[in-house]
Amino acid sequence: MSRSAEPAPRLVDDRPIGVFDSGVGGLTVLRALESALPGESFLYLGDTARLPYGTKSPASVVRYATQCARLLVRSGVKALVIACNTAASAALPELVAAHPGMPVVGVVEPGARAALAATRNRRVLVLATEGTIRAGAYQSALARLAADVAVTPIGCSVFVALAEEGWGDSDVAEHAARRYLGAIYPHPSAPDTVLLGCTHFPVLAPTLARLLPAGVALVDSAATTAAAVAELVAAGDLAPAGAGAERATRFLATDGPERFARVGSQFLARPLGAADIEIVDVA
Ligand code: DGL
Repeated sequence: MSRSAEPAPRLVDDRPIGVFDSGVGGLTVLRALESALPGESFLYLGDTARLPYGTKSPASVVRYATQCARLLVRSGVKALVIACNTAASAALPELVAAHPGMPVVGVVEPGARAALAATRNRRVLVLATEGTIRAGAYQSALARLAADVAVTPIGCSVFVALAEEGWGDSDVAEHAARRYLGAIYPHPSAPDTVLLGCTHFPVLAPTLARLLPAGVALVDSAATTAAAVAELVAAGDLAPAGAGAERATRFLATDGPERFARVGSQFLARPLGAADIEIVDVA
């Protein structure tokens, strides 16, 4: 988390927490936030018109993330959660600088913390998009938090398409996972922890768990990111919603409400209808 100027202190604040992702994958983070902060309201934005971010240039991802954050801030959120690993890797400093006084939480450092809590042999395999791996964000976060941890990064962009297609737990996913992981497992000194450094990858967890040797931990950043936001509230850095506030989650997208609802339901683990999604123009 970073925060860059003096906030106006508030005791309670009923405004929603803004969450954005390149698409529906960030709904896994939203789900964890809703469960960690049951009294809060959320405004979720999925930039479905421009998904995937993971194969785009850093300059484009920074521009997209800046536009998403600006829309959420103009809509009146009290904090920003960058649920997209690629966007958090490329644009966290820019978003902190652009929104003085606004708490901004990215998923990378919480994900790195989750991996460190899980590893016993001090070896972590990071699976993420090409953009996240190229930015080196997880490699840097892990090196900063624990200098003795060896990190193996692998870009797995095909997993995003599989998750979007609803094929996260399928023979096709298993085939792709064998291609990505075949050079690493089984090996006696292979990483004992696999960090799912992409919003879409938790839906591939059953497939990965079937292929990985017993005892290899699979971790993602959803729960630890939600915990980081809850810590801000506990520390008094983010005012909670009032006890009597009516909580709500609203969904915004830049394209395709039907697809958002259909695929998003899997990530959110509850039904969404196209009528629940409001289409917005962030550019
Ligand atoms: N949300 C992206 C991430 O977590 C995955 C999908 C994409 O490439 O846009 O990196």
